[in-house]
Amino acid sequence: MIVVAIREIKHYQKDDILRKKSRAVDKIDDRIITLLDDMAETMYQADGVGLAAPQVGILKRIIVIDIGDGIIELINPEILWEKGEQDGEEGCLSIPGYSANVKRPAKVKVKGLNRKGEEIEIVGEGLLARALCHEIDHLNGILFIDRVVSENTEG
Ligand code: CO
Repeated sequence: MIVVAIREIKHYQKDDILRKKSRAVDKIDDRIITLLDDMAETMYQADGVGLAAPQVGILKRIIVIDIGDGIIELINPEILWEKGEQDGEEGCLSIPGYSANVKRPAKVKVKGLNRKGEEIEIVGEGLLARALCHEIDHLNGILFIDRVVSENTEG
């Protein structure tokens, strides 16, 4: 039986876990698989394009992303290189009701492990590059509000 649970998303004003650094995953066991499933479900239910484990209160280096092309799961993700620059509006499920412009690389290459423990590499441009950078920041206790270049004045 597979039970997928929606997890509570931590809000940054209420929970300083979002400011802590996450630890690398050393073994992909059933708990990690369940966490991956729950994170995806939680992200979809909240209409997000990405979620990092500390956002559900788990200080492990795990992210999930879906910008509309299917689920990407990365364990222990690392940015191998970044190129160029993009400005764009960003928000975060942990900071509801706020968005602002954030400068990110135009393109990034990221490596990490999939749920089978296989090393995978992803090259992302545009929104995918933005999401990868945003979610990996979460693993280091960094929030997009730390990187805002201008407020969104359109209200
Ligand atoms: Co976020």
